[in-house]
Amino acid sequence: MKRLALLLLLQTIYLLQLSQALPHYLQDPFENAHHAEAEELLYDTTQRWMSAQSVTSSCSSCISALQLVKSLSYTSESLLVRTLTNVCKRSKRMSPEVCHGVMKEQAPIFRKVIRTMSVSGREGHLFCAAVGNSCPYPDVEPYTVTFPKEKPADIKQPEPSGDVMTVLQLSDWHVDPDYQETSDAICNEPICCRSASTDYSNVTMPASKWGEYTCDPPVRLVESMLNYIPSVEKNISFGIMTGDIPPHEVWSTLPFMKTERIHDSAYALLHTHFDSKDKINTRLYPAVGNHEAAPTNNFPLSTSDIPSEQNREYLSLEWLYTALSKNWNGWIANDPDFYVQTTTGSYATRPVEGLKLISLNTNFCYTLNWWLYQKPTEQDPNGVLTWLVEQLQESEDLGERAWIIGHIAPGDSTCFHDYSNYYHQIVERYAPHVIAGQFYGHTHADEMQIFYRGGQQEASEAISVAYIAPSMTPYLHVNPAFRVYKIDKKTFEVVDSLTYMANLDQANTWTNEPNWHLEYSAKDVYTSPAAPSTETSPLTASWWHSVTEDMESNVDTFEKYWQHRRRFAPNAPECTGDCRQHTICNIRAGKSELRCDYDPDSFLRTSERSAKYLDRHSCGGNFEPISPTY
Ligand SMILES: *[C@@H]1O[C@H](CO)[C@@H](O)[C@H](O)[C@H]1NC(C)=O
Ligand SMILES: *[C@@H]1O[C@H](CO)[C@@H](O)[C@H](O)[C@H]1NC(C)=O
Repeated sequence: MKRLALLLLLQTIYLLQLSQALPHYLQDPFENAHHAEAEELLYDTTQRWMSAQSVTSSCSSCISALQLVKSLSYTSESLLVRTLTNVCKRSKRMSPEVCHGVMKEQAPIFRKVIRTMSVSGREGHLFCAAVGNSCPYPDVEPYTVTFPKEKPADIKQPEPSGDVMTVLQLSDWHVDPDYQETSDAICNEPICCRSASTDYSNVTMPASKWGEYTCDPPVRLVESMLNYIPSVEKNISFGIMTGDIPPHEVWSTLPFMKTERIHDSAYALLHTHFDSKDKINTRLYPAVGNHEAAPTNNFPLSTSDIPSEQNREYLSLEWLYTALSKNWNGWIANDPDFYVQTTTGSYATRPVEGLKLISLNTNFCYTLNWWLYQKPTEQDPNGVLTWLVEQLQESEDLGERAWIIGHIAPGDSTCFHDYSNYYHQIVERYAPHVIAGQFYGHTHADEMQIFYRGGQQEASEAISVAYIAPSMTPYLHVNPAFRVYKIDKKTFEVVDSLTYMANLDQANTWTNEPNWHLEYSAKDVYTSPAAPSTETSPLTASWWHSVTEDMESNVDTFEKYWQHRRRFAPNAPECTGDCRQHTICNIRAGKSELRCDYDPDSFLRTSERSAKYLDRHSCGGNFEPISPTY
């Protein structure tokens, strides 16, 4: 009797320590029978989640799955990794190796964070909405960004000079040093064209010398692009690189030195081309992408509960910010401001007189950055938004223009609604008189996003445009591309946007080099009676809004945008009806809460959703997969 009472007491203390009641099978986590039971329950729940037929059941099974993971998070890290790996393997959505690698890298961070989350409350619902596309998205928590000064009433817009300079934008290289010609372009890993994922006795589709639509590109393709650039653009004033240099090898980014080496060799190549008089010969200003980190996506906050073990220090990403500032040496002036943001990788500099360039690490709004789910969630993670306001206020005071560059556009489906809402307030305050341009990447698609004053989606109220540049990588089913802007030398507004590409589906016919060529000039292609322009007029936000109106009434205009998104890659899915409406809606959604990706009335089952993921660039295909990719 005494023993029983003691046992009960110990058990109560144990449960109290965990500060929540655990399911009985987890009370002794080190007993194998219990592992099996926990795994079984988690597997069943995720299967229910994946096959849910309605928002209600999808949301509730997502929350249940999270609850189980939270319970498991109080057991050992190795047990959590093992259970999640087994569940992943059994659901056969990824190869065993990928399941193991992803869980081993990502689960320790998620384990720390989920313990703080209110799973049945806001954080759980936010996770299931943003990552699983399962629950209705929680409303934005109201937060008014404070500004040092009121917006001036008498804003004088500078007059265009009519004289232009050239700026180059590179984005989303995802260069793969392990790319192998003749390896299999079809495999069951997130990216293919590698020896490790090839059965050479049975190759379904041998990889070309230059790349494949299911793979990240070989170094050779990147080099050919860098060689081609100065042959068409002889006088580039400066370049921007909007993030994501490493490949989508999300299951194996560690040890961090491996990812660091990929950065080092990519930047060595970039320096060769940008620092040489007979090559591109200018400075390059980079931004930090989600794949820059190892483990992928996870940029911690100063408040993050980083596991304190000796061999986990790399999770702070200090190594990354140090490596990047070393690699960026020679391009970014020795500006003391640069060092202000060594914990975020953001910086501000002046590439030419009269223009401030603000490079923002927008991974602090990324829905797959687990650190951001830690409760209490932060409205201004690491103070980046406050810093942005300071930078823009300084530019307003000095009467200079500013550009914002970054990887994930705040209007993207993968940027939290809350952050996007707060960022939008900043744009409304400082555009159009200070902010003359915004440049992003991340989606691999060639896209636009328009910001409006006072929530009025009209040409007269459009105040800023974010250009989302096409990717270098052909992954997934897009043609490799880069972008050049013609910029008014006085206003620093975009006068034209020129996209260059190569048709990867013709790779087997290329004799020496890819067929790099001009894909289109935005001004040429989108100018119409509805959206008139002159040779020197800027492509303003109002002009772009008029283009979207033209897309609504003119199928041909929409079709051009639709084809440009993937650079005429073959097998483009059709986009009519709702798809067209949603695509136009997304262009007008400078604020991510305004997007039309999530529509409870046309709820898609997760199984259909994962099929969509495979062709992510199909209609409304902005669903994020369950696993960390892109
Ligand atoms: C190159 O462009 C800069 C900036 O627009 C201009 O000042 C310069 O004269 C140009 N140089 C040549 C050789 O065209
Ligand atoms: C070859 O690969 C295909 C597709 O991956 C598969 O269906 C087929 O069974 C394989 N054949 C052999 C002999 O392994």
